[in-house]
Order: sequence, then structure tokens, then C-alpha cells
Amino acid sequence: MAKSVNVAIIGSGVVGSAFINQLKNLKSPIDFKVVYLARSSKEAVFSKDYSPVDLSTYKSATSNPVLPLAELADYLSAAARPTILIDNTSNESIANFYPTFIKSGISIATPNKKAFSSDITTWNDIFSSSAQPHGGLVYHEATVGAGLPIIGPLTDLVLTGDKVDKIEGIFSGTLSYIFNEFSTTDASNNTKFSDVVKVAKSLGYTEPDPRDDLNGLDVARKVTILARISGLKVESPTSFPVESLIPKPLESIQSAEEFLQKLPDFDADIQKLKDDAFADNKVLRFVGSVDIKTNQVKVGIGKYGFDHPFASLKGSDNVVSIKTERYPNPLVIQGAGAGAEVTAHGVLADAIKVAQRIAN
Ligand SMILES: NC(=O)c1ccc[n+]([C@@H]2O[C@H](COP(=O)([O-])OP(=O)(O)OC[C@H]3O[C@@H](n4cnc5c(N)ncnc54)[C@H](OP(=O)(O)O)[C@@H]3O)[C@@H](O)[C@H]2O)c1
Ligand SMILES: *[C@@H]1O[C@H](CO)[C@@H](O)[C@H](O)[C@H]1NC(C)=O
Ligand SMILES: *[C@@H]1O[C@H](CO)[C@@H](O)[C@H](O)[C@H]1NC(C)=O
Ligand SMILES: *[C@@H]1O[C@H](CO)[C@@H](O)[C@H](O)[C@H]1NC(C)=O
Repeated sequence: MAKSVNVAIIGSGVVGSAFINQLKNLKSPIDFKVVYLARSSKEAVFSKDYSPVDLSTYKSATSNPVLPLAELADYLSAAARPTILIDNTSNESIANFYPTFIKSGISIATPNKKAFSSDITTWNDIFSSSAQPHGGLVYHEATVGAGLPIIGPLTDLVLTGDKVDKIEGIFSGTLSYIFNEFSTTDASNNTKFSDVVKVAKSLGYTEPDPRDDLNGLDVARKVTILARISGLKVESPTSFPVESLIPKPLESIQSAEEFLQKLPDFDADIQKLKDDAFADNKVLRFVGSVDIKTNQVKVGIGKYGFDHPFASLKGSDNVVSIKTERYPNPLVIQGAGAGAEVTAHGVLADAIKVAQRIAN
């Protein structure tokens, strides 16, 4: 008989649905039995005897109210098979519950950044619980750069004794797009910052309120994760300098519409920054960086020469440059850093790695 694992999936949004679809078509020697599927924050498909959910009909299957997290941990850990929990939400309470799941022997694969980028006590709790004899495993490749291989390779370097010197990258697909369009190597390009933000919103690249991208917090969360893996004890994503692209007077404005309407009044400052950089043969990019030697983490606008890899970035791609003792000429990883399919593949690849270690 084939090895098998139980799988519990919380969330069937954009990424979740893509994940379920990829899982349905998975060709693997390990049998993945989905025993719990929370379709939304209200309803879940599961049965007391752990009979697998049919992934071709889960959308219309009879559902129950979602289990409270403590009951979910009990339900999953009482099963005969080992379990992988896929948290496909951005919910902080679920993230805060990871240590309890892990201590109950449940492994986790997730694209949810909250658990790894909030207070450092949660991070410490997660990884010390996982290190205990029957602790579950934790994989979170898709929390930085979606499906791009960043966390896995960086963790491997650190675990095998390499010393990280500096990490620098463009970690927001939205801000990558905005700066790639706004600041180019082409002298005739006069695109206004506020216009690019409007186009990005109309293409669905931004959050419903673009200020949730422009405040830099999402990038700060990703940089927090990379800094911690590299050995820096970053307290929280607000414990280091983060440059916000929201003009001060527009921070307190109520609606996203009014914000977009007033944004052109503030184009001059960032335009000057772009023109000054251009005169120096440089472009502007919104970057996060970790400097291990000086113990500095920061997020903000940086200037890069026309021949730098960050200057030739396309579309909404992410890029990260990792400089270590073994890679003094940095390791550069680049590609799509957002999107349901690539994010779901990152999470499913993590789930497969866990299954290969725990299935029986
Ligand atoms: N989209 C990307 O490109 C991308 C890339 C990298 C990482 N991520 C991360 O991936 C995660 C998922 O993103 P998404 O874009 O798929 O979000 P989403 O579309 O908002 O999906 C979230 C799903 O989770 C459900 N949910 C929320 N809270 C829940 C709860 N307490 N119990 C059960 N279900 C719950 C939601 O149901 P309701 O509709 O009932 O709220 C929804 O179905 C996020 O952490 C995000 O940051 C996304
Ligand atoms: C998983 O999360 C992503 C990102 O929030 C969401 O778009 C997708 O719908 C979720 N998938 C499921 C099955 O919840
Ligand atoms: C997060 O998840 C918990 C547990 O399922 C739920 O009680 C809470 O309402 C959720 N919070 C948000 C903001 O969705
Ligand atoms: C400016 O450059 C961007 C990125 O190459 C391009 O998409 C856009 O059409 C250009 N705009 C103008 C006015 O040249």
C-alpha cells in the first residue's frame, strides 16, 4: 500500500483554489488525503471519521461550521495518519496558533507571512516547538517571492555553515511594477508616479486601497523573515526604518478614491528624485535590504545604475541578491513573485517535502 498523509486546508481563495487544483492533478507516490477543507472563514467540509473530501465536488459539498482552532488541532492530531495543515489565509489568529498545532505533531505549509514576520516571540515559539521530539515540520517558501526558491536555498546555506553578508531585493510585485514603469533608462519616458499607481490599481495589481502597498509594510514583513533566517534577531517588522510612499497629508484620508484623486499634487518630490537619479545614469527601485555585518535592516527607495540587475527588471517580477562568504559574487534569483499559480506551486512543493518526511 502507498504511503499516505492527511491534509487540512484552511482557505480556498485565489491561492487556495489554485492549490486544490494542483493537488487534484498531483502525480505522487504518496497519497494525500484531504480530511478538512475550510471553504471560507465560516464553513468547512469534513467528517468525523476522516473520510477524504472529494476535490472535484468540494465547492458544493455539504459543509459544517468551521472548527474553532483548538478543536481543529484535536481533530487532526487524533487521526491515525500524520497531518499537514495548509494555511491559505492571511489571518493572524491562525498564524498565532501555529505553535499549538506544531506541538500536537501537525506539520505546516503556508504562504501566510503573519506568523513569521510578527513579534519575534512567535517565531521563536514556532521553531522551538518544531525542534521538539514530536513537533511538526514548518515550511513557508511562499511567504517571500511567492513560488521563487528563496527561503529554501537561503536556509540550506545557513544550515551548512555559510555566513550571509548582505541580502537585497525587490519583494513586492506591485511596487516592482510601479517603479519599473515609472523610472526607466529611457530619457523620453515622462510617466508620472500618480498615473502609474492608477494604472496598477486598474489592472488589479494593488490592494483595494493602494496605500496598503505603498506603506512598505508587506516588504518589511518579507525582509524580517529573510533577516531572521540569516541570524538577525529582528524584533518586529516595525523595529527598523521603513520608508512609506504615502505622502504624509494623505495618510489620514478616508477613501482610496480620494487618495488617488489627490496623489498628483505630490508628484513633484518623487519626480525630482527620479530626475536626479537619471542624471547620474540610475533608476529608482523600492528595495528591502539586510546587512548582517552592520546589523542593519531597512526598506525604501534605492538608486541603481542602468547596468544593475535591478534596473532591467520586467513587469511585476521580484528579484533577490544574496551575498555570502561562499557567494561573494551574489546569488541572484529572479522571476514572478506573485500570482495564484506560482504561489500555490510553492505551497504544494512544501507540502510534498513534508509528506516525504512524515508519510507512513
Ligand atoms: N496572491 C498572491 O499572489 C500571494 C503571493 C504570496 C503569498 N500570498 C499569501 O497567500 C495567502 C492567501 O492569499 P489569497 O490572495 O489567496 O487571499 P484570499 O483570496 O483573501 O483568500 C483567503 C481565503 O481564506 C479564507 N479564510 C480567511 N480566514 C479564514 C479562517 N479564519 N478560516 C477559514 N478560512 C478563512 C477566506 O475566506 P472568506 O472569503 O470567508 O474570508 C478566503 O477563502 C495570504 O497570506 C497571502 O499573503 C499570496
Ligand atoms: C489561498 O490563498 C490565496 C491567497 O490569499 C487565495 O487567493 C486562495 O484563494 C486561497 N486558496 C484557498 C483554497 O483558500
Ligand atoms: C481569523 O480566524 C479566526 C479563527 O478561524 C476567526 O475567529 C477570526 O474571525 C478570523 N479573523 C479574521 C480577521 O478573519
Ligand atoms: C515608460 O516606460 C514603461 C516601461 O518600459 C512603458 O511601459 C511606458 O509605456 C513608457 N511610457 C512612456 C510615456 O514612454
